Amino acid sequence: MIKKGIILAGGMGTRMSPLTKAVNKQLLPIYDKPLIFYPLSILMLAKIRDVLIIVNKGQMDQYRKLIPDGKKLGMKIEYIEQDKPRGLPDAFILGEKFIKKDNVAMILGDNFFYGQSLSKMLFDCVKIKKGAKVVLHKVSNPEKFGVATVKGKKILSIKEKPKNSKSDLAVTGLYFFDNKVVKLANKLKPSKRNELEIVDLLNSYRKINQLSSEFLGRGGAWLDTGSIEDFYKTSNFVSAIENLQGFKIACLEEISLNNNWINKNKVYEAIKFYGNCDYSKYLKKIIS
Ligand code: DAU
Repeated sequence: MIKKGIILAGGMGTRMSPLTKAVNKQLLPIYDKPLIFYPLSILMLAKIRDVLIIVNKGQMDQYRKLIPDGKKLGMKIEYIEQDKPRGLPDAFILGEKFIKKDNVAMILGDNFFYGQSLSKMLFDCVKIKKGAKVVLHKVSNPEKFGVATVKGKKILSIKEKPKNSKSDLAVTGLYFFDNKVVKLANKLKPSKRNELEIVDLLNSYRKINQLSSEFLGRGGAWLDTGSIEDFYKTSNFVSAIENLQGFKIACLEEISLNNNWINKNKVYEAIKFYGNCDYSKYLKKIIS
């Protein structure tokens, strides 16, 4: 079982400037919570309790104000700074000491997942012992993402933002790796845009026949909140679901409670910490 996870939450957020000039994108709101809550909730649903959050240089204190060290959630959460955006595989170079000899999951800080079969899919993914696994989802604009062609669950090819792809299967920002990932990431060379590329890392697994996939399926929603338009679309989605159904998406304390990682006392502490707001009212409701 994979027990460690990394959230890559740096990047300059240039497509969302001026919103991102003073505040990191992952701290901006998706409806009623900061964006970072959503990818963190996915790792928690996968029962991953040991998390490394990679943030931009100088931004660790901002994040710590919101999510200090994980104790409040019955987790271990640590931070490391990335001094400049060197590409997604840099996570495994920066995270070497955190990963140690274990296997690891990674989720991009700007990725949003939702769906009925999500927990089951996550459970299947964390079982991986050898190789790497990506989560694929059908999209109408594959040219904006990493794109895979598959035979069953086997990946035949994988390309970053291809102009004319026959496949509409996007590679989402949720990945599961065995421990080789550290060695393989260290071997990568920067691409023409001077970044280490996640597709190069995934292709090194594919070349040794160790890259597989899971599908989010039609009932699942995946949104990459890379642009302002996508940010608002995701916010509207969360607002619609939460207001129609009366429960919250990515309520961290609720997931922790369900995982038996915290008791009701910790939820009372969280209510004090957040203060008088809708999120606290929801927390009161779930423990009453
Ligand atoms: O969202 C899925 C897509 O994410 C995949 O389909 C692509 O294959 C993958 O390359 C990636 O594409 P993006 O264009 O969305 O990547 P972006 O550069 O926007 O970075 C994604 C997140 O990672 C964002 O929250 C910023 C953070 N990041 C990015 C880089 C390059 C870092 O924290 N450090 C970095 O060095």
